[in-house]
Amino acid sequence: SSTPYLRVTPSMLKTQTGRKGKDAWMGLNGKVYNITPYAEFHPGGIPELLRGAGKDATKIFGEVHPWVNYDTMLSACLVGLLVDEPEGTE
Ligand code: HEM
Repeated sequence: SSTPYLRVTPSMLKTQTGRKGKDAWMGLNGKVYNITPYAEFHPGGIPELLRGAGKDATKIFGEVHPWVNYDTMLSACLVGLLVDEPEGTE
């Protein structure tokens, strides 16, 4: 199993959109995944998947397909934990 190690803030996550040569990351229920290696396999297509890139996509994911077990599918793509911004930076 993989252990979450990196603490990812929303401002860090925001830079990981899949553009400008950076991988696309997605926040789901407190964890952050690198969705770039999975993108070409997404049944809903890449543009649809990337709607959730660089952000906490928990809500939109749940609206589209709450039955999909992303945690198992993306276990090798776990980046870390989604945490709040440090105090005084908001
Ligand atoms: C299917 C959107 C994230 C796995 C779909 C479909 C849409 C969609 C619209 C339906 C495609 C169709 O039936 O024609 C989205 C959006 C996402 C997202 C907006 C994020 C914001 C993910 C992630 C995973 C995933 C992170 C897995 C790691 C799947 C699977 C299906 C699917 C397995 C097929 C589900 C089924 O037919 O029962 N997605 N997706 N999606 N997506 Fe996503």
